[in-house]
Amino acid sequence: MSAPDAMPPANSDTPARPDWPEAARITLPDEAATDAFAARLAPLLGPGDTLLLSGALGAGKTHLARALIRSRLVSPDELVPSPSFTLVQTYDTPNGVEIWHADLYRLADGAEVSELGLEEALSDAICLIEWPDRLGRAWPATAVQLHLERMIDDTRTAHLFSPEGSALTQRLLSAMRP
Ligand SMILES: Nc1ncnc2c1ncn2[C@@H]1O[C@H](COP(=O)(O)OP(=O)(O)O)[C@@H](O)[C@H]1O
Ligand SMILES: [Mg+2]
Repeated sequence: MSAPDAMPPANSDTPARPDWPEAARITLPDEAATDAFAARLAPLLGPGDTLLLSGALGAGKTHLARALIRSRLVSPDELVPSPSFTLVQTYDTPNGVEIWHADLYRLADGAEVSELGLEEALSDAICLIEWPDRLGRAWPATAVQLHLERMIDDTRTAHLFSPEGSALTQRLLSAMRP
């Protein structure tokens, strides 16, 4: 994990680290389109893969994460609560891979990300992290960022930002088409 020189400011709509170009984008006209997008992403993810979910409040980060988690669970009826108060929710999936769903919005300033056990999870689990700007220096260099943008017509646009040469990005590109 490297400490990047320039971190995004901790505001609500920071699209990406300045050095991460946009690899692809997709329009999500409604919740069903987001659910379908999440279901395409889900099988492409494995241990050590991290999606940093950014975007303003109400952009659809939790909706996307929940849909993705549901499509990897055995029982679609299993509860998938928002981690906005617990900061982290973890899930066991049938093939033994854990999914971590984190919402760092309420992470106290100065609180250690390591106290959550997140750094370990970043290498072993599938991690879906809302408000990743809170990671600060723990921002994972091999992750990708999905930035959700609420458009004027209330549709959403998902932007995929990633480091140059990202293997994870190559794997995810097929999901970026409807
Ligand atoms: N295309 C879309 N994708 C995801 N959510 C959408 C979409 N269109 C409308 N919504 C609504 O926007 C809200 C997003 O809320 P949420 O996922 O909690 O946002 P966030 O976690 O980014 O704050 C939900 O009420 C959801 O139903
Ligand atoms: Mg949320």
